[in-house]
Amino acid sequence: MKTILYNGSGDVPQVADYLKKGQVVGMPTETVYGLAANALDGAAVAKIFEAKNRPMDNPLIVHISDLDQLLELTTEVPFTAIQLANAFWPGPLTMVFERSDLVPNEVTAGGNTVAVRMPSHPLALELIKECGFPLAAPSANRSGSPSPTTATHVMDDMKGLIPAVLDGGSCTVGVESTVLSLSHGNPRLLRPGGVTKEQIESIIGAIEVDPSVLENVHLETVSSPGMKYKHYAPKAKVTLLRGEGEAFCRFVNQQKEEGIAALCFDEDGERLNVPVLSLGSVQQPKDWMHRLFGQLRKADQLGYTKVYAHCPPKEGEGLAVYNRLIRAAAFDEREL
Ligand code: TXA
Ligand code: MG
Repeated sequence: MKTILYNGSGDVPQVADYLKKGQVVGMPTETVYGLAANALDGAAVAKIFEAKNRPMDNPLIVHISDLDQLLELTTEVPFTAIQLANAFWPGPLTMVFERSDLVPNEVTAGGNTVAVRMPSHPLALELIKECGFPLAAPSANRSGSPSPTTATHVMDDMKGLIPAVLDGGSCTVGVESTVLSLSHGNPRLLRPGGVTKEQIESIIGAIEVDPSVLENVHLETVSSPGMKYKHYAPKAKVTLLRGEGEAFCRFVNQQKEEGIAALCFDEDGERLNVPVLSLGSVQQPKDWMHRLFGQLRKADQLGYTKVYAHCPPKEGEGLAVYNRLIRAAAFDEREL
């Protein structure tokens, strides 16, 4: 299959035509690129799993452009969801609700809940409006590899597998949306992302954090199925090192292996004598999110076989970065 790269607002109607015909396209969002299909068409959604080589038991996020669509997709919208939607939509927050009959099983992996978000990327919103139906979309990478944050990344992974990619530039946030369950019991953070736990708590008070966010939990008990797969991993072996900058640099400089690189902060980079993949200044947590996946991909392009990553703090934006890094490292984290 030939994959055509489309560009900008003028091409939105053409890209929408593929979706109206039940095909799958690459779509920009502010978090990462998505692999989109008509969320109300089970057969179209099944094609996403095929292109991505994704296990069918991992449900998808449904992307909407207005709140009426949320009401159609769900049976109950708690007041907390309205408060959070007011604060963070359009934007990188996904909320999990009880689903309505309109949502096909392919989207929910057969479950009773549906994950919904309203993205803020103008082209994503235009595309959903042009289609007139919501779009189911996982990240547009092949399963297991780092999420794509540019149209080039999507082409690298999906060329020949889908008919079209809409280029919307480099994703401003750079990691996936925050996933918050509101479907039963107390609000629970299933995946940290573009909206921080602290931002959510400033609106609705304390929330629970699912154990899978920070640990390698037992597979059967995980509430966000996406968290159980090896994820975000480059080909290089990643080890996460926790400690001050000085200790990190001393440890890395002592290593004698071939093919080493350091994934760390600008401030570390100045003191290292191995190649550096920088996440930005230690003072700029948003930059860490923005750069993370691109740097993991770069590690492979440059042929590094061993990456020592400097552990970010497990709070604010750092929590989302930590959550991805610990999976890229297959939970190999060491205290210095
Ligand atoms: O930022 C994002 O969220 C991007 C862009 C494209 O919107 N999408 C994305 O999708 O990251 P994906 O499929 O890579 O991750 C979706 C996550 C997975 O961890 C999945 O298990 C979880 O959301 N999820 C989806 N539906 C769910 C549900 N009904 N209950 C619990 N978790 C759900
Ligand atoms: Mg993904």
